[in-house]
Amino acid sequence: MPEDQEASVGLFKKYLANNKIFKNREVLRHSYRPQILPHRRPQIDQVASILAPALKNETPSNIVIYGKTGTGKTACVRYVGTELENASGHMGTVCRVVHLNCEVIDTQYRVLAQISKSIIGTDELASDKARVHIPMTGWPTDQVYQELKNQLEANGGVLIIILDEIDKLVKKSGDETLYNLTRINTDLKRSKVSVIGISNDLSFKDFLDPRVLSSLSEEELVFPPYNAPQLCDILAQRAESAFVDGALEEGVIPLCAALAAQEHGDARRALDLFRVSGELADRGESEKVTESHVKMAQAKIETDSMIECISTLPTQSKVVLYSMLLLDQMGQSIFTSGEVSRIYKEIAPAIELDVLTHRRITDLISELNMLGVINTRVVSRGRYGRTKEMWFDANTTKIWNVILSDQRLSSQGLAQMDIDWVKTLFR
Ligand SMILES: Nc1ncnc2c1ncn2[C@@H]1O[C@H](COP(=O)(O)OP(=O)(O)OP(=O)(O)O)[C@@H](O)[C@H]1O
Ligand SMILES: [Mg+2]
Repeated sequence: MPEDQEASVGLFKKYLANNKIFKNREVLRHSYRPQILPHRRPQIDQVASILAPALKNETPSNIVIYGKTGTGKTACVRYVGTELENASGHMGTVCRVVHLNCEVIDTQYRVLAQISKSIIGTDELASDKARVHIPMTGWPTDQVYQELKNQLEANGGVLIIILDEIDKLVKKSGDETLYNLTRINTDLKRSKVSVIGISNDLSFKDFLDPRVLSSLSEEELVFPPYNAPQLCDILAQRAESAFVDGALEEGVIPLCAALAAQEHGDARRALDLFRVSGELADRGESEKVTESHVKMAQAKIETDSMIECISTLPTQSKVVLYSMLLLDQMGQSIFTSGEVSRIYKEIAPAIELDVLTHRRITDLISELNMLGVINTRVVSRGRYGRTKEMWFDANTTKIWNVILSDQRLSSQGLAQMDIDWVKTLFR
């Protein structure tokens, strides 16, 4: 190997050499699709029993599936969908499943175009002149529906449409798509459609016309949260292929499971904790993953999600937060909403923002408290009434970085407003 190549590989060598911890980290990632889903047999069987008529070319009932985040809704429905397609392959019937994530595909047009795309496929059939690709934008909705119906009829058989995170579609675009899709069968002769909606937000029902709701929820399923022992089984089952034998200290799986069960029985959270604990052990060149790695992982995940949350805050909230950071940096570890307002009212006009009222500022402060960015408490100040005091929990370096990386704030020279300037406000 030439010298420069060897040098580059050298940089990574020590990280690659250490495989004391992971056998296959991919098994713990969100994108991994497990073949075995412990503690979801009843739900899988129920979905399978509702969809089974599709294999006899009958229309299955529409289903709505509810359950908190990380309760295995997507994983189970994907699993049943794949099994259904396999079974139909063996039986020689036409039965297809299309899985759409409505967080991304969130308009009627996109939903229809995506369904059509999955029917036609992207490759060999595209040359078939009888089939027209629906462009991703531009056609009138009626034309899109007509073309989709033609394609369904040309294909025949049963199509199961899974609208995952259906609440996002309804909130963004109303219930027209669902109205149309649940009625499409009346216009079809050779083919059949059935819809499965998945949501982790129960209130999404309130956004639906009662008629749409009743035709969509012919069957309703609820996925309960996992408890700690169930999460232990889920982790243990993945651990075998993810970790090197003997790399896990005994208490690691129960601790990850217990922490995730405390949240709300979220398997995604449990798996994240498990993976990050392993990564911390791996990077620290430890021989084993220990309970202290799990605790570090918990803290890291919490900070990371808080940081992500801050980065998506509106500019006004960021300026309020920035005002607090300045106070904190001035050495004032506890500050009042009055003090925050005072700095905010100097900064906002300086970067050409509307200046919010004190009332609105206290609302934004409450929001920051709810997000866990700051802590607050109300204290009585004798005859001056009550006031809200607040402080940061931990090291603010990461929060500073997010705030200063905001284009709007940094380009307006906010970063130059320094401590000396703040001090002048309080003289
Ligand atoms: N019973 C289970 N066995 C193994 N892995 C599971 C099980 N349930 C969930 N998981 C895993 O946990 C993670 C979250 O599951 P999934 O994506 O199915 O949750 P969800 O209910 O769809 O959540 P959301 O409402 O946030 O979309 C996935 O990585 C999935 O593979
Ligand atoms: Mg999901």
